[in-house]
Amino acid sequence: MEDVTMKVPVRLAVVYYSATGNVHAMAQRAALAAENVGAEVRLRKVAELAPVSAVEANPAWATHARSAASVAVACPQDVEWADAVLLGTPTRFGNVSAQLKQFIDQLGPLWSRGALADKFYAAFTSTSTPHGGHESTLLALYNCVYHFGGIIVAPGYTDPVKFAEGNPYGVSHTSGDHPIDERTLDAMDHLASRLLAAAQARRGLVSEPSGT
Ligand SMILES: Cc1cc2nc3c(=O)[nH]c(=O)nc-3n(C[C@H](O)[C@H](O)[C@H](O)COP(=O)(O)O)c2cc1C
Repeated sequence: MEDVTMKVPVRLAVVYYSATGNVHAMAQRAALAAENVGAEVRLRKVAELAPVSAVEANPAWATHARSAASVAVACPQDVEWADAVLLGTPTRFGNVSAQLKQFIDQLGPLWSRGALADKFYAAFTSTSTPHGGHESTLLALYNCVYHFGGIIVAPGYTDPVKFAEGNPYGVSHTSGDHPIDERTLDAMDHLASRLLAAAQARRGLVSEPSGT
């Protein structure tokens, strides 16, 4: 069988929202890990919905908004383009941030023509407290993926890094305990590589049009 995995790099979209930089750091790490193994990567933040006055009233939020100004803003075509999609959001009352959800809600036209189906998805989050909604946020995000007909790539405990980081549903970080550390970043490397491996394996099973 022709080895299409070697000819065609997997396309990964890392689409995230971050107010104060934790989820941004996780997204950046996943993008880097994927680029290092030859994937084509689009690192995209979703659009801010909060008024400028709210952002500017919070120094950490304002500082991060300025430092991430050069990150491209996600559009639905980034998801359409991708074979694999990593979604990142801070927890908001145990749930997905409005900003990321607003982006997902713009995917309706892609969903209606089946263009979100059969892609590979995984998710990551940051909360401030250890029991503040790690799993509930990831599971809420995955509700959308079920509707897409997407394939969720759970990390489970498939690598020693998962026993250290501890979340089999995706990757999560507790920002109130400590800044982003190697444990979280290693778990992002693992999630990215597992997602890419799943997408690559599918390329090996589904014949690709020649020249792509
Ligand atoms: C409106 C709001 C709701 C939040 N809800 C929760 C929550 O339910 N549980 C929690 O642990 N942290 C909660 N947080 C804290 C953030 O999720 C946390 O600080 C996260 O690490 C921020 O990620 P970021 O730096 O990428 O923006 C909330 C923050 C805001 C502003």
